[in-house]
Amino acid sequence: LRIQGKFYRTIWALGEAPTVHIIDQTLLPHRLEIRTLARAADAAEAIAAMRVRGAPLIGATAAYGYALGAREDPADAGLERVRDQLLSTRPTAVNLRWALDLMRAAVLPLPPAARASAAFEQAASIAEADVVSCRAIGGHGLALIEQLAARKGGAAVNVLTHCNAGWLAAVDWGTALAPVYAAHRAGIAVHVWVDETRPRNQGASLTAYELAGEGVAHTLIADNAGGHLMQQGRVDLCLVGSDRTAANGDVANKIGTYLKALAAHDNGVPFYVALPCSTLDWGLASGVGSIPIEERSAREVTHVTGLAADGTLNTVAIAPPGTPAANPAFDVTPARLVTGLITERGVAAASRGGLLHLYPEQAGTPA
Ligand code: MRU
Repeated sequence: LRIQGKFYRTIWALGEAPTVHIIDQTLLPHRLEIRTLARAADAAEAIAAMRVRGAPLIGATAAYGYALGAREDPADAGLERVRDQLLSTRPTAVNLRWALDLMRAAVLPLPPAARASAAFEQAASIAEADVVSCRAIGGHGLALIEQLAARKGGAAVNVLTHCNAGWLAAVDWGTALAPVYAAHRAGIAVHVWVDETRPRNQGASLTAYELAGEGVAHTLIADNAGGHLMQQGRVDLCLVGSDRTAANGDVANKIGTYLKALAAHDNGVPFYVALPCSTLDWGLASGVGSIPIEERSAREVTHVTGLAADGTLNTVAIAPPGTPAANPAFDVTPARLVTGLITERGVAAASRGGLLHLYPEQAGTPA
């Protein structure tokens, strides 16, 4: 989608012997810097440092990282080492493992000399498939927003979202925000309440940035404001993404999602989760207590980074020195609080039956 009128994707490869490029999201919204990933280790670093983040983009970056690794050392042992290195970067988003499994299956059966080019082709197809999936999620979610708009007689539909599940979290379009972009392009009045999403503030820095780039009306709110706005009838729909969804419809997403789902449930606000099939973990019967939750640095809680008046990016402390801080990065929302799952194949009930209705080929997968 657009940044200052120019179209971008979050990751792209260029040339015959491809070089891989990303937008460094740690610098947004203050600086737009493109970084080159030259080696598999650069891809691993970019994921771990959250220069790229968001479940679908983590998967696509891992795929390109594997391809870069295949160019460095196409032997089996080298590829397995690269796979392990990439897999260890972030534990919660299952798209990482999904993408690496696809890469391994496409590359390992080939003779070493053929592996690097096949790996770049497979990585490109993973990235392209993500764009197609997210666009389809947008189409299915659009139908929900259209219904709400009709009920409101054309008044703006107010969507509350958490973290960033827009195009910056995927290769393009995004998951939770794809329906918003589809509605906006269809001429439906839509307004987004953007949770700032402490501690890393992906809502404030990324969601607000990309909505502005597309000209979608939005208002940044403190994370604690959502329940109040729902009580006041100022939220028509909650739309969030997912980093891993268990086979029963339990959803792991950015920390704080669960609280929004509770508030939505208490106030009768529909709570939808948008996700491509790469985010489904059919091997997990349920999510609460089973999905690995990434624990990140305490410094993300005790400090904040922002733009100083002199134009420099500054990190400042907001707690007394030495304050102990805990930083679980995700939580799990039980399926009973989820109104529906918007996938590339349509909207499913948040249950094993609902998901199998859309993905019948998974019926035999043991959970
Ligand atoms: O830690 P992040 O920024 O990688 O987490 C991303 C999220 O949790 C998003 O909310 C998102 O829904 C999942 S990616 C579409």
